[in-house]
Amino acid sequence: MNQLLKVFIMLIVIALTIGLKPAESNVETQTTDQRVKDLVSKMTLEEKVGQMTQVTIQAVSKVQGTGKQQHQIDLAKLEEAIIKYNVGSILNVYDVAHSIEYWHQVITEIQDIAKKKTRLGIPVIYGIDAIHGANYTKGSTLFPQAINMAAAWNKDLAEKCGSITSYETRASGIPWNFYPVMDIGRQPLWSRLWETFGEDVYLASQIGSSYIKGAQGNDISDAAKVATCLKHYVGYSFPINGRDRTPAWISERMMREYFLPTFEAGVAAGAPTVMVNSSEVDGIPGHANYHLLTEVLRNELNFKGFVVSDWEDIARLHTRDRVASTPKEAVKIAVMAGVDMSMVPYNFSFYDLLLELVKEGSVPMWRIDEAVSRILTVKMQLGLFENPYPNKELINNFAKSEFTEANLTAARESIILSKNEDNILPLSKESKVLITGPTANQLSPLNGGWTITWQGNDESLYPQEKHTIAEAIQNKIGVKNALYSQGCSFTEEINVKETIEAAKNADVVILCLGEPPYCESPGNIDNLTLNNVQLNFAQKIAAAGKPVILVMIEGRPRVISSIVPDMKGIILGFLPGMEGGDALADVIFGDFNPSGKLPVTYPRNANGITLYDYKPIENFDVNTYNPQWPFGYGLSYTTFSYSNLKISSKEITENETLKVSVDVKNTGETSGQEVVQLYLCDLYGSVTRPDRQLKGFEKISLNPGEIKTVTFALNKDHFSFIGIDNKRITEPGDFVVMVGDKKEKFTLTESKN
Ligand code: BGC
Repeated sequence: MNQLLKVFIMLIVIALTIGLKPAESNVETQTTDQRVKDLVSKMTLEEKVGQMTQVTIQAVSKVQGTGKQQHQIDLAKLEEAIIKYNVGSILNVYDVAHSIEYWHQVITEIQDIAKKKTRLGIPVIYGIDAIHGANYTKGSTLFPQAINMAAAWNKDLAEKCGSITSYETRASGIPWNFYPVMDIGRQPLWSRLWETFGEDVYLASQIGSSYIKGAQGNDISDAAKVATCLKHYVGYSFPINGRDRTPAWISERMMREYFLPTFEAGVAAGAPTVMVNSSEVDGIPGHANYHLLTEVLRNELNFKGFVVSDWEDIARLHTRDRVASTPKEAVKIAVMAGVDMSMVPYNFSFYDLLLELVKEGSVPMWRIDEAVSRILTVKMQLGLFENPYPNKELINNFAKSEFTEANLTAARESIILSKNEDNILPLSKESKVLITGPTANQLSPLNGGWTITWQGNDESLYPQEKHTIAEAIQNKIGVKNALYSQGCSFTEEINVKETIEAAKNADVVILCLGEPPYCESPGNIDNLTLNNVQLNFAQKIAAAGKPVILVMIEGRPRVISSIVPDMKGIILGFLPGMEGGDALADVIFGDFNPSGKLPVTYPRNANGITLYDYKPIENFDVNTYNPQWPFGYGLSYTTFSYSNLKISSKEITENETLKVSVDVKNTGETSGQEVVQLYLCDLYGSVTRPDRQLKGFEKISLNPGEIKTVTFALNKDHFSFIGIDNKRITEPGDFVVMVGDKKEKFTLTESKN
């Protein structure tokens, strides 16, 4: 090639390289970095410490009382917070969900002060728990809770849920959502189990990342996107005694194997904020854990965003945990461990103490600059400097019918059919049914906590136009054939005799049991078994002699083994959200073919908590693995068969990919969705290996007789585990891959290089 041509080609290559996306985004990052640097260089220490301070809206509101919808901002207090204390962030709702217009007013008042009355005009970042939709905005689209989103095993739905929730949250003027919960749900007693995407690392990572993708898109400055927050980093979900905010003992290896990977996935998906574990692991409170907050989160997971404390938890290092002998020491410990923003939340103590600490040299200036830079970067990424105000145009599409449709689809797909003796379900629409039980005729149990209020338990605030299970059934088959009689409340018998008589006159009884709504510590229980009032009621109803369909509405798998044999059909509804009543009626009467699969193990006995990925010793000698229903389980009104499981090679090295394919056929007479689940078993390892682990899944739809081939690709990530040295490794050896009832064995060999 002649010289001139070579130079010409080189020039083209250079031009193309400069024009490529990564180069562009580099330029953008540099600009944001530079902007942040410039701004930080102009800030006083007080302004910086203020940015690190977050207060609740209660702290800047007129007092108080419990008046619904009577919230009023106290402008004097708000000005004090923003002008005198320079607070960088405000959170929460005063008491109860506001109208979207009222949110606009509140956010505008806040940003007006920040923009027009402070020296540098730095916008406030408002944060909220929009857990299953914009639950603190009246009339929002309220999705099934996380446990149900996981039960749907549908990444597209999770993404849609993220995107609609973001739309409605940002439409309310709020750009920051304290969600998703990336804690792993391996302790079924825990009152926040339903806020998780279940017990499995792979499923939760996939569903959580899909949610983030939908919530953030490619650019969180987009008018309809928000910044997500991964919580509660890390190990919060595994309290030994099952009660919220109590200690976990998690070794370094188990932390890395079971609890860190979901956060790693969330960081990789681009979440720009992380909230800290409110409790303690191995004797170190989450907020004091330098190793996890800095060494692991920053240096290993490469997290670049900012870390916010949980509610009052820095102060609690002194008042509760006693790792700090004074409130001031608590602030120092938390900030130096790696907490960038303090959810104080009622006062300015953090601000005052941190100022003192910096002035006396106990907290270095570099640490303040680091924290503030991270916070300002997220504010810039959100576009708040350009426009901190609510976007009025977004109100138009708030809770539009398309969103309700998506919500109904999510609710339907999240419902699990776990027993269907003699194919009692679906019921004919001609059947005469009796609907009974404490969860039959209320919307609040379908939604759970974080709905309109924190505990979600004020039924009077729920939208009248939405349907309870009883109403949805009555709408479907007519009131004449669908009698409702309560029977019992969650804790007391109400009109049991009358209900039994009514049962005798029905063809089928639909018995709706479970839990009232709850959230965080108020949801603590000491016994996973459903209480006797409900279990006895179920037995009495069954004794009336008519087939009983049990519908469980609950945030965690309450043990029901004593009544399972008496039930002809069982539906596990968990917390299906605002469209849950309609979705359940659709499943019961066959307008929707159930496809939900358990995202947690359903225990048979309160003390028999052995999860699906148990270790060999848990099913050895006298130990047995015998859950009520296993993880991944769920029936359909049709049947599926698996055949032709193929693997691309019987032997691969860790740097190669194993392709797996399987044919799935709908062998029944109804169209249906099947969740094709791929499990892997590493037969021998230097650390005990689980019986099986989920490593892939895909939800497919099949018409009767239709066959689809589903393929998976497995690589090093899937074969690896945390070894004796607490590092992620792969080991050569034999593996079994399992899909449906089919298995294949392959060998992982040493890398050739
Ligand atoms: C919860 C968090 C929540 C925060 C703010 C805390 O009590 O643990 O999940 O984000 O409150 O409402």
